[in-house]
Amino acid sequence: MYNEEYYRLKNIADRDLLKYLPEEEEKSRSVLEAMKYSLSAGGKRVRPVLMLAACSLAGGNEEDAVPFACAIEYIHTYSLIHDDLPAMDDDDLRRGKPTNHVVFGEACAVLAGDALLNRAFEVMFEALINGDEKNRNRYLKAARCISEASGYYGMVGGQIADIEGETSGKKDMDHLKFIHKRKTGALIKAAIIAGAHIGGGDEKLISDLSELGELMGLEFQIADDILDVCGDSSELGKPVGSDDKNGKLTYPSCVGMEKTREIYEDVHRRTMELIEKLGPEAKFFKDFAGDLYYRIN
Ligand code: IPE
Ligand code: IPE
Ligand code: MG
Ligand code: MG
Ligand code: MG
Repeated sequence: MYNEEYYRLKNIADRDLLKYLPEEEEKSRSVLEAMKYSLSAGGKRVRPVLMLAACSLAGGNEEDAVPFACAIEYIHTYSLIHDDLPAMDDDDLRRGKPTNHVVFGEACAVLAGDALLNRAFEVMFEALINGDEKNRNRYLKAARCISEASGYYGMVGGQIADIEGETSGKKDMDHLKFIHKRKTGALIKAAIIAGAHIGGGDEKLISDLSELGELMGLEFQIADDILDVCGDSSELGKPVGSDDKNGKLTYPSCVGMEKTREIYEDVHRRTMELIEKLGPEAKFFKDFAGDLYYRIN
């Protein structure tokens, strides 16, 4: 259901994803096994693909972005392992397999997430140290942007707002927008911006892509909300109805499904308008945003 270029970029990310993991040590083998388990379970690799594409769009060599593409997938995968824990969404299926804590236990799942996050930073620092003078400055900007998007100002901030939104019982649009912008939007936007930094993009491109990243992130999470209601668990590789079970603040729970679809369409239209302005070089973004709009997983 995705275009050929997506699969080409996804293959590049998949090629090196396990290569950047640490060496196995006997006494800590189980945590590495748990890290590999979630990374190898599948996943669309949307963030690495966007990063590689943004690097090319900015005029760079996509191979230069590969360590960072793997790093952002480590961070995303850690966020999923923790998101599924009993203390958070308490889900037992992810990427078509039993969730990390179901297989390895909660302590190991928490640590596998922590180790993935830290490994991501090691991989970025390694690339920075080994990079030539030109790349070093670009890598610094990319690392800065990924750090911010993963933490308090990004995914972590969104996740706490998501958890606290469960019990509030209020249909608070401001709170909902904050959740989506931070828990999902931040990392998707960072993938694009980091890629553009690594490719040497100028300020104008970075600013255009920031707007695009925000819209694509919002569209991606609204689709996730819709699929949690109307999707097929065997396609999604995760449970349907998890949001309802947890009383989550989502677009469907806040404004109803009909209005959600209207908003989804409107966000998609604005995404496509922005991509159009980027010109013919942004063909991949046009195709990919078109594919994502119809995604079923
Ligand atoms: C799921 O992300 C969690 C969200 C942030 C919506 P993805 O839909 O990218 O999940 P994978 O990586 O393909 O499993
Ligand atoms: C989670 O949002 C976003 C993350 C930061 C992991 P969801 O809780 O809706 O993601 P899924 O539906 O479990 O993949
Ligand atoms: Mg969640
Ligand atoms: Mg969840
Ligand atoms: Mg969801």
